[in-house]
Amino acid sequence: MNKKQLLIFPILASVVVSCKKDTLVEVVDVPATPIVAVEQKGGKPSELKAAEGAFQLYELPFEYRSLEPYFDGATMEFHYSKHLLPYVNALNKVVVGTKYEVLELEPILKNLNFSDADVRNNAGAVYNHNFFFEGIAPKAGGEPEGELLDAINRDFGSFGEFVRQFSETSVRLNGSGWTWLMSDKYGRLRIITTPNNDAPQMKGLGITGTPLLNLDMWEHAYYLKFQNKKREYANTFFSVVNWDKVEQRYGAFSKSAAPAYQEPSATGTETPATTETAAPVEKPKPVDGSEE
Ligand SMILES: [Fe+2]
Repeated sequence: MNKKQLLIFPILASVVVSCKKDTLVEVVDVPATPIVAVEQKGGKPSELKAAEGAFQLYELPFEYRSLEPYFDGATMEFHYSKHLLPYVNALNKVVVGTKYEVLELEPILKNLNFSDADVRNNAGAVYNHNFFFEGIAPKAGGEPEGELLDAINRDFGSFGEFVRQFSETSVRLNGSGWTWLMSDKYGRLRIITTPNNDAPQMKGLGITGTPLLNLDMWEHAYYLKFQNKKREYANTFFSVVNWDKVEQRYGAFSKSAAPAYQEPSATGTETPATTETAAPVEKPKPVDGSEE
């Protein structure tokens, strides 16, 4: 067998129970292991292209195995080629003939009508995955520096406490979804989650601020290596976080959008330069084609 092939067969295991020699031999069938065929093809990210359409596959700037021993090559290959690529191809199909066809990815999220369920799912998935893959890198991890580290220390107490809260939030996320580090308009940080493939910018979610970092908490992102150990996966993520990229996101945002944030006064009253008002939360509308 090719060493690059890792096959987990559906095993109908037989357990032989022998109570005494020559007296009782009972063969008991136990439930089969779920069928999971994992073949690391050893391909290269650069070999993949999206089908014809408005959106291209994000070009992963490293090889699948480059994040080992933290994130394994098989998971990275499947994640990129069997999840992100199909989402891009699906998005290219579902935007055809719609108002979204002429928009870039982020404007689609900001102008999204929740009745467009296929666009919501695929545009969110592509945006979230692109953001996720941009946010990880080989020989990365460690701690951020500069303004971002200052903000983390200010808003979480310490970098270690931030990691603990981010991992804990990820572990507690029910079902599939995403964990995010967000900055508000003053550069203050907080951790949120979004369900399914929802992105923070989606009109109607009522989430304010800008994303800096995200973690994919769908099973396909971790189950091959970490199985059900979501906490181990979330903690390992911090060995591959591309803090240079996250610092770049935070710096770009703070320079372009943030008014000066004023530290709480001596009386403890928080006095931001302006008052942020959360957008009203819109409930998802039924898919009945009644809107637009
Ligand atoms: Fe994913």
